[in-house]
Amino acid sequence: MKSHESMKGWSVMWWLFTLLGIPVTFPWLLYHLYDILKRKRRLSILRGKVVMITGASSGLGEALAHVFYSSGCRLILVARRKDELERVKNTLMHTHHTVTTHPPTVLSVDLTEVNSLPKEIDKLLAIHGKIDVLINNAGISYRGEAATTEMDVDVKVMLINYFAQIALAKAILPSMIKRRSGHIVCVSSVQGKIAIPYRSAYGASKHALGAWCDSARAELAESNIKITVVNPGYIKTDLSLNALTGSGDKYGVMDKTIQQGYSPKYVAEEILSATLRESSEVTVAPLLPRVAQFIRYVSPSLYFLIMERRAKKLAKGE
Ligand SMILES: NC(=O)c1ccc[n+]([C@@H]2O[C@H](COP(=O)([O-])OP(=O)(O)OC[C@H]3O[C@@H](n4cnc5c(N)ncnc54)[C@H](OP(=O)(O)O)[C@@H]3O)[C@@H](O)[C@H]2O)c1
Repeated sequence: MKSHESMKGWSVMWWLFTLLGIPVTFPWLLYHLYDILKRKRRLSILRGKVVMITGASSGLGEALAHVFYSSGCRLILVARRKDELERVKNTLMHTHHTVTTHPPTVLSVDLTEVNSLPKEIDKLLAIHGKIDVLINNAGISYRGEAATTEMDVDVKVMLINYFAQIALAKAILPSMIKRRSGHIVCVSSVQGKIAIPYRSAYGASKHALGAWCDSARAELAESNIKITVVNPGYIKTDLSLNALTGSGDKYGVMDKTIQQGYSPKYVAEEILSATLRESSEVTVAPLLPRVAQFIRYVSPSLYFLIMERRAKKLAKGE
């Protein structure tokens, strides 16, 4: 009698396992198998590639450092804050200690010193022999009125987000063209496609970057150079804390939109995939900015009307 009851208990357990366990464990196993295969593919393509990441001391740049380092790349980490770059370097080496690659090189430089960048690149080329991938990610945001923003602020935003990026590309391109191989990834923004109120300097710099990349991509295709433009939506980083105001002060506020944005890790993974696919352009954004982008192209006057209303609301502090 007892053994009959325990048999019954086992069959109920087995029934529960097949009902709940298999539908959960099978996709879980499949997902992990897919993950292992994806990692193997990445390692085979990226192992040993020299990847230079600007703005690697925080936010998206730091997350990019993790995904490319764990894919076996030899990294060059660039930003102004040397202590933060050293922190990122040490974290990389301790977190991904099973990955066979070189310790990252740290370059502390102010990218607004555009005329000094070719010398820095020559030094890096002498050390590494080549730069396979340049990820132009360093950037600064801005919050202010177009009409009253000081010219120095417009110039500074343009210097970091546009001139520094193309100066680095120009310094590296001759070596890439000579090898007939290379990839430049520029981190733009959804605001590189659509302009919104109180972000004039930022939007202008990102539009300029996208336009430069589109021209250069066509010209350099013959030399087998790939150019990828990435247009992310909001990402949870210190971008708004570090943003400049119209008078050149630090904005210093964590915007709600940024607070609720994508994780830097997710966007970094998307950038890695776009790099592997050699995509010309990729947008990593939710539906709303994509719809706004669509409206801007199919019905500009409707888009301008929506933005006019948005500007009025923002001016009232709504
Ligand atoms: N967060 C978002 O919502 C969002 C959305 C779309 C696009 N993006 C773009 O993503 C990129 C990364 O920004 P983030 O969100 O990660 O913000 P972040 O945390 O403020 O990072 C900005 C990075 O740029 C570096 N940087 C700034 N000025 C520099 C200069 N003059 N010279 C050298 N390095 C400089 C900073 O390093 P140091 O201070 O150490 O120099 C820092 O590592 C930017 O291009 C931004 O426009 C961000």
